[in-house]
Amino acid sequence: MQGTVITVSNPLGGTGKTTIAFHLAHGLARLGYKVLAVDMDPKASLTRAMGQREELITYSVKDLLTRSTTWWKTTLFVDQNLYLIPATDELAGMDYHMLSKPFSYMKLKKKLMPAKSEHDFIVIDTGPAYNLFSVNAWNFSDSVLMPFIPGPGTGADIAMVLRDFKDFDVDIQVIFNQIARNTSLANQARLYVENRHRRATFNSVKIPRSSLISESMAHHEPVSLRHPGSQPAVAMNHLTSITAAALKESDI
Ligand SMILES: Nc1ncnc2c1ncn2[C@@H]1O[C@H](COP(=O)(O)OP(=O)(O)O)[C@@H](O)[C@H]1O
Ligand SMILES: [Mg+2]
Repeated sequence: MQGTVITVSNPLGGTGKTTIAFHLAHGLARLGYKVLAVDMDPKASLTRAMGQREELITYSVKDLLTRSTTWWKTTLFVDQNLYLIPATDELAGMDYHMLSKPFSYMKLKKKLMPAKSEHDFIVIDTGPAYNLFSVNAWNFSDSVLMPFIPGPGTGADIAMVLRDFKDFDVDIQVIFNQIARNTSLANQARLYVENRHRRATFNSVKIPRSSLISESMAHHEPVSLRHPGSQPAVAMNHLTSITAAALKESDI
């Protein structure tokens, strides 16, 4: 069986990519799936959230992309069923170095293809940019989860980002994060996009704005473990279970 590859991506910063990648990876691992998380952002926020200290990392995603280093050599154990290919700030600028090499757009796929048969899910976090790292992640992905914070003008933002994706053969799912009590802005954004017939589905999970999320991540824990039963924990559990259910459906 081949694992499912999900990239969390959005060219806008601070929309919740790392938060969602962290909770999805932990959540799927806690359901018993074998999960490989991959940090493709030189800011290394996912790596830090997963409790890995940069100065103790010998091999990172940079070695995977630019050297002959194998995926298993770069893989760290994080928790039961959960593994991580970490990033360090050495990744910054490496896209420029990679461009001169053949198949620079497919490097991640080539290197991680063997890891697909050993994991149920590969969850990739990317930085807020359309760069070679993001393109590598999309070329390897079955689906792209794209978080947006609903606000005035979010519909136009989503439509713009989707237009840039039209040449990629991936399933894009928009997910709303950091929703304040009033969710009508999320519904308005969805209507705006649907009226323009852009190709995307909307994830039914709406993640509330809550300081419990960042507080849990500061302790390297998913919110469902640190604050079980809380509103954000319920939303993150829901996201995990529908992602797992989609896998089961595609197996049939
Ligand atoms: N649902 C949420 N509620 C409250 N704070 C959030 C939520 N999602 C993300 N954050 C916070 O917003 C900031 C940006 O989130 P992050 O996941 O790092 O975004 P990105 O990876 O897209 O840059 C972080 O400080 C994070 O803790
Ligand atoms: Mg991030």
